[in-house]
Amino acid sequence: MWGSDNLTMREDRSLSVAKLESVHTMTTPIFPVDVVIMAAGKGTRMKSRLPKVLQRLAGVPLVQHVLNTAALLNARSAVVITGHGADQVEPLVLAPGQAMGVRCVRQEPQLGTGHAVQQAVPALADDGVVVILSGDVPLTQADTLQALIAECGGQQLALLTLDMADPTGYGRIVREGVQVQAIVEHKDATEAQRQIHEVYSGIMAVPARLLKGWLGRIDNQNAQGEYYLTDVVKLAVADGVPVVAHKITDPVQVAGVNSPVQLAELERAHQLRQAHRFMEQGVRLKDPARFDLRGQLDCAQDVEIDVNCVFEGSVSLGEGVKIGANCVIANCTIAAGAVIHPFTHIDGEKPGVSVGEGALIGPFARLRPGAQLAADVHIGNFVEVKNSTMAKGSKANHLAYLGDATVGERVNYGAGSITANYDGANKHRTVIEADVHIGSNCVLVAPVTISAGGTVGGGSAITKSTEPGALSVARGKQVSIANWARPQKQPKA
Ligand code: UD1
Ligand code: MG
Repeated sequence: MWGSDNLTMREDRSLSVAKLESVHTMTTPIFPVDVVIMAAGKGTRMKSRLPKVLQRLAGVPLVQHVLNTAALLNARSAVVITGHGADQVEPLVLAPGQAMGVRCVRQEPQLGTGHAVQQAVPALADDGVVVILSGDVPLTQADTLQALIAECGGQQLALLTLDMADPTGYGRIVREGVQVQAIVEHKDATEAQRQIHEVYSGIMAVPARLLKGWLGRIDNQNAQGEYYLTDVVKLAVADGVPVVAHKITDPVQVAGVNSPVQLAELERAHQLRQAHRFMEQGVRLKDPARFDLRGQLDCAQDVEIDVNCVFEGSVSLGEGVKIGANCVIANCTIAAGAVIHPFTHIDGEKPGVSVGEGALIGPFARLRPGAQLAADVHIGNFVEVKNSTMAKGSKANHLAYLGDATVGERVNYGAGSITANYDGANKHRTVIEADVHIGSNCVLVAPVTISAGGTVGGGSAITKSTEPGALSVARGKQVSIANWARPQKQPKA
């Protein structure tokens, strides 16, 4: 799931969809939008074998964030320019499930951003507006780009800019009066130009037809010997095409990832924004700075989440659910009123996990794929449940394992008991019918059925199915020898 609008409140879902649609209808341009994503750079400072644009933010590769934003723009197509790590980047961006047609073009060698976009020219239709993005700038908002596209209007060159306290390294926006004249790269800038604080974000919207003409005219006569995309500005000015700067104030939206430190900073900024959106919708987070969502979270009313919880995949929390501190919860539906106590790990990666109404889980519980727990089930500390269903009101409160089991209602599953579900070659099921009591420290050797109302004595190793209502005990009989004299230590010679 690459859901980009990964924050939905169950009650407000229709509302957020309506909002999204209104963004589209309000600004759906008369011209098609094609997105170019530059992703050929090396990312040396990440010091990683993984190409930079595949590093993950909120669990999603950076370049996929950019593609998700393009999808919100209703882009007609996306062209991803690959180079370094292309063999890894291309399979990801070309994987089925992207919201628009994606093509990759290779840029080898990498001779600059202008050269990069030149590679995309054959893949771009003339009738569109091209929005140029970078695969390592993950948090640009769709509404910002919509506004930029509107400024372009299908006929002008629109640049996304912002004022930076320290503009070192960035291309400066050089104006005459208010009119933008050029972008001058830091290394090419004069001392006076370096005093300019308005910088180019790396993002522009430009009519394809004009862009193609300008790209054919740029050269590499500059301090870095590179083909600069930013040189299209002076060509536009020379051609009398208006250049407009759309200035924003939010640096997070244009921040690139170049190092592990920047990746972590953006991760925190993103998580804090997500946390605030949840709180605005009524979710009570103990500390928004200690909240991590790497996927989709859907919350009903009066949900409370304590510190240091991580949500992954697709998680849904019903009304009044409480999540204790330090839980990791992935791919799980938790029904109203359930309480997940601290340090619980839920991993529902295929098949999912469900927790019923009013259930109590943890502390220190582990729910694995296929754990389906009905209402009022109690799972206590150091209990592991995998591929098992537990019907209403059943309890496994201490130190136990339930794997491949079908558990009826009101079962009490004793401390230290396990289902021996694996014979070394195959898995087998254990059936525990309603109202059964399993004593402590039992081994139920599957396949086996403990019939309704039965009781299993503590310490039993059960290998044969039992009759309804029966007491079954399968262990060495207790022997007591009266007045037993323990061996004595021999005195030293
Ligand atoms: C660029 C802009 C600068 C702007 C800054 C904002 C140019 C010449 N300069 O500078 O004005 O302030 O971004 O961050 O465009 N890439 C390729 N192939 C290449 C070179 C780069 O795909 O041959 C990709 C990189 O992987 C990266 C993006 O293009 O995703 C930007 O390249 P980068 O080298 O970071 O440009 P800057 O020098 O930062
Ligand atoms: Mg850069």
